[in-house]
Amino acid sequence: MSSQGSYQISTIASNIDKEINRLKAQVDLFWDKEFKRYVEFGLEDGMKIAELGSGPGFVTENLLKTLPNIHITALEIDSILVEYAAQYLKENQFDRYEIVQGSIMTTGFPDNSFDFAITRLVLEHLPDPVGAVREICRIIKPGGKAIFVDNDFEMHIMTFPSFGSLRELYEAYCQSRSQEGGNPKIGRELPLILKRGGLSNIDFEVISAHSEVVGDEKFFKSEGIGIPSKLVRDGFLPSKVLADISVQWRNVVKSEDHAILRQLYMAVGEKMSVGEV
Ligand SMILES: C[S@@+](CC[C@H](N)C(=O)[O-])C[C@H]1O[C@@H](n2cnc3c(N)ncnc32)[C@H](O)[C@@H]1O
Repeated sequence: MSSQGSYQISTIASNIDKEINRLKAQVDLFWDKEFKRYVEFGLEDGMKIAELGSGPGFVTENLLKTLPNIHITALEIDSILVEYAAQYLKENQFDRYEIVQGSIMTTGFPDNSFDFAITRLVLEHLPDPVGAVREICRIIKPGGKAIFVDNDFEMHIMTFPSFGSLRELYEAYCQSRSQEGGNPKIGRELPLILKRGGLSNIDFEVISAHSEVVGDEKFFKSEGIGIPSKLVRDGFLPSKVLADISVQWRNVVKSEDHAILRQLYMAVGEKMSVGEV
């Protein structure tokens, strides 16, 4: 098991640029609904926000665009993504943010520094998610909230008409990520992980994207062939299963009454003041 966890941009898929594009599409797929939940869970303009595992900076970008008076500290471990995000956000002429290279496990930020923390699609890749929550609990202010967004690959993309080889793909993905120390079925465990990490007043929500609402294109872009091809190359997925998925996927799209559905799992918790704990 790797102590680095199960997401390295340079090895998780067959091509880094395409993987970055897929991350962008994955933000676009859920953004409208996701942002509404962030606000319901306590995000407000003017806040000092920590974004942990910020990757290429697409969530950072959307937050900066939507909330004109926030300040974001984006923490990311991977130098390739730190560089990409720095360039990307600079080209878009944003200010009110800083990007720091470092680990969510030991951020180095002072105690009680942030009003709000967002950790999106990161806990599922970490060998010690409770340790990460504990660190985030340390750096947010008393009364501050932390949101965590993850997958649960027991219930990932579902289609109508449905086909079995998609499940084989997700089981192969789960095996591969688990071997690297991740937990791709973490979604259902989030409330307890937050509690064990020291947060209180936990809430939990599943949000979904549906092809009839957001269109097919966003799903095509947010899936892609990069990770499945890598699973074949690494021996987790037989190539004939991937070939079948391509055929079945085309059949789904050809079907007049087709549906494509995907969920994200969100949990929020609050840091209590010392007297309240
Ligand atoms: C699936 S990507 C999600 C990126 C971004 N949050 C988003 O939603 O588009 C996971 C990110 O977590 C980062 N990451 C993984 N382990 C980390 C750690 N220990 N500390 C900080 N970031 C980490 C990865 O490098 C990657 O950028």
